[in-house]
Amino acid sequence: MPKYVITEAAEIPPGASRCLTVAGREIVVFNVDGEFFGLADRCPHRGARLSAGMIVGRIESAGYGDYKLASRRTMVRCPWHGWEYDLRTGQSFCEPDRVRARGYEIESVPGQAIVEGPFKADTFPIEQEAEYLVVELPR
Ligand code: FES
Repeated sequence: MPKYVITEAAEIPPGASRCLTVAGREIVVFNVDGEFFGLADRCPHRGARLSAGMIVGRIESAGYGDYKLASRRTMVRCPWHGWEYDLRTGQSFCEPDRVRARGYEIESVPGQAIVEGPFKADTFPIEQEAEYLVVELPR
């Protein structure tokens, strides 16, 4: 499977997201505390752009009357009807057995490794000192 260099990691600071077109696919990349996650930029419910959604935290509970917000925000809430998807797995919390956003593994790679290859990066120059985000796509 080809690996595509999609952007410099510094272009997506912690807490931000960015939609990128990679080999004809629209992928939204989220930065959660320096960890990167990729999802198809299309909600599987009715097709809204997840890149317009809000990154939110999960409510955790050990039992009745005990609720707390998770320390990390690892879900995206769709802007149209509020369905929420796990950034790691794409799992829906409305219909977890049936609905899942398409996920992409995003890898952070030093520029030096990009120069050595084999990657596809034909739209921007690569600096050896920088860090880049790479996604592997099926053919
Ligand atoms: S289109 Fe995303 S929740 Fe309906």
